[in-house]
Amino acid sequence: MSGKRDEIIAALVKAYTMEVETIVNYLSLSIHLDGVRADFIKQALRADIQGEIGHAQQLGQRLKQLGSTVPGSQKIPMTQTYLQPPADTTDVVSVIKGVIKAEEDALAHYRSIARLCEGDDYVTQDLVITIMGDEEGHLQQFHGYLMEYAKG
Ligand SMILES: [Fe+2]
Ligand SMILES: [Fe+2]
Repeated sequence: MSGKRDEIIAALVKAYTMEVETIVNYLSLSIHLDGVRADFIKQALRADIQGEIGHAQQLGQRLKQLGSTVPGSQKIPMTQTYLQPPADTTDVVSVIKGVIKAEEDALAHYRSIARLCEGDDYVTQDLVITIMGDEEGHLQQFHGYLMEYAKG
């Protein structure tokens, strides 16, 4: 189980860093956007920030239980090129699309962790499956916004 355990820890560290980067970008976007159409999205992002902080806390706790260090800022690579504040501060649709991609990436990574844990680590598996439920909720919410906002 020790090779597997290292793999699970590495996957959890990646999940933790993805949550932290998502928090950084949702925070930025929830302030950056302008306009009537943006208000609702900014509010939704503010609410989701709290959810993503909760995920990071749970993943960090599990890392601690597995004997790993929870990464600090110097150990957190940032890669979400698609979720940067747009030059046009009223471009709500591009932000919604970026959020959808972030949530899809998170779901794909959690699905891979759930598979990795199968037969070895049911506690981590249970945690990531619970988080997947939240991310599916976020994804559905922003798919709904996209349907409405893409109409113009
Ligand atoms: Fe999350
Ligand atoms: Fe999410």
